[in-house]
Formats: sequence, C-alpha cells, structure tokens
Amino acid sequence: MPTVLVKALSPNEKDQKYEVEAGRLLYDELERQGLILPHGCLAGSCGSCRIEILEGAENLSNPGAVESDTISHIKSNYSPNKIIRLSCRAKVNGDIVISVLK
Ligand code: FES
Repeated sequence: MPTVLVKALSPNEKDQKYEVEAGRLLYDELERQGLILPHGCLAGSCGSCRIEILEGAENLSNPGAVESDTISHIKSNYSPNKIIRLSCRAKVNGDIVISVLK
C-alpha cells in the first residue's frame, strides 16, 4: 500500500503518516482515516484542497483538464518551483510526501 506522509504545519504539530489504497483519490483516502483536509467543491474547481507535493509527484495520477485549469489559476500565488496538486483529484499510486497549502 502506498504511504502518504503529511508534513506538520507548525513546530507543535507532528508529521502524520497514512497507508492508502492504490488508485484512490488522496482526499478520500485521508478522510476515510480521519484526516479532513481543507476542501470546498470536491470536484477540482475551487482549489481549496491544494497541496504541495514534496516527494513522489510521479506517484500521482496525471492532472486532468479541470485540475490543470484550476492549478493554472492559483499557482501564481506560490513559488514557481512548488509542485501543486488538488487532493480531491489526485489519485495515489505510490509513496508521497505532502504539505497543506494555504
Ligand atoms: S475541493 Fe475544490 S478543487 Fe478540491
């Protein structure tokens, strides 16, 4: 099973590690295990569920048209070398390390 490591947002929090079922949506797999990531539409349009991929970007499904379009609208708010994905659209096929973006 792929592993998802969610990096802590602040020094008083700890990184959290989850095992997820391969081929499933990242958001759904974490929610099933009790981690509710920031979200809105759950359809790839609002960008509320944006995350940064710190490791393993190649282990996610390729972004579809809706996800790519949404990311193109929000990515100017971040450093150009950040790999941004939407947790409600990205399917996990292997180990990844992520951080929640604000
Ligand atoms: S929750 Fe709206 S894009 Fe993911």
